[in-house]
Amino acid sequence: MKPKTLIIGSSGKTGSRILSKLKQAGYPVQLGSRKAEPSFDWENPENWEETLQGIDQVYISFQPDLAVPSSLKAIQSLVQVCQKNKVKRLVLLSGRGEPEAKVCEQVVQNSGLEWTILRSSWFLQNFSEGMFLEPILEGKVLFPKVAAKEPFVDLDDLSELAFASLVTDKHKNKLYELTGPELVSFKDVFNTIAEVTNQSIEFEELPLDDYLLTLKEFGLPEDVLWLIDYLFRTVLDGRNESVVSDLELALGRKPKDFQTYAKETAKSGIWKMPERVS
Ligand SMILES: NC(=O)c1ccc[n+]([C@@H]2O[C@H](COP(=O)([O-])OP(=O)(O)OC[C@H]3O[C@@H](n4cnc5c(N)ncnc54)[C@H](OP(=O)(O)O)[C@@H]3O)[C@@H](O)[C@H]2O)c1
Repeated sequence: MKPKTLIIGSSGKTGSRILSKLKQAGYPVQLGSRKAEPSFDWENPENWEETLQGIDQVYISFQPDLAVPSSLKAIQSLVQVCQKNKVKRLVLLSGRGEPEAKVCEQVVQNSGLEWTILRSSWFLQNFSEGMFLEPILEGKVLFPKVAAKEPFVDLDDLSELAFASLVTDKHKNKLYELTGPELVSFKDVFNTIAEVTNQSIEFEELPLDDYLLTLKEFGLPEDVLWLIDYLFRTVLDGRNESVVSDLELALGRKPKDFQTYAKETAKSGIWKMPERVS
């Protein structure tokens, strides 16, 4: 019988892709989000037992990020409930360059269950489905650390590997550090998006503290500001400015490069700026 997977974050950027792959291949799935029935909420461990009834394996994307101080206790508690419910396999989405995430990875690796760790670089889809889409559509990007380079990962590649980790034994008990095939600076990202969409994107670099202050004035809550500060100050301090071959070896093909993603995404129309009345 095909194993049943709980996808935590099933309506998110990675979870939705894994969900459609599992469904297409005829695997039973259980949605994992606050809106699912039964609901799964990282803030509310009381009903995790109910959600995990009859579940054989779990794809774990934590919210908001394994770097936050509450993540360790949450992952420990989830692993305990999984052990109690005889879950067989865990696939954990983790963040590259985050020491706090490594501690959570170890909890999964030492769980006694089968595991795969996907320790990912920043997603390309942050620019088309995540926090950087809105400024792109407004045609005005304020950004700190524009010269920082990141080996962005495409989420169709990541979810292909997550799917294979759930439905085959090929990736059992393996930790993959996921990068795309090249380093790209944020400045190049925004310039390329302007080029492939034939739209102008005004671009202003500002110091990180000023950027955080601007976001605070826009009303972003303290915990979100803390995480943005952490991601820019810690993860983008140069530690991730390298490409590794794990994803290519695991997929058996080259991961998607930035130009291909940018051209495909431009064609989809996601970056088309709304008409402005002047
Ligand atoms: N963005 C990057 O570049 C990057 C890179 C490496 C690793 N990561 C990691 O990727 C993970 C996020 O994955 P993603 O981008 O696929 O997700 P996402 O697009 O941020 O989607 C969020 C998902 O989580 C659910 N959710 C939100 N709050 C929740 C809560 N309190 N309890 C349960 N579910 C909740 C949402 O559904 P509901 O709203 O219905 O609950 C939705 O399904 C994070 O752990 C992040 O650290 C991100």
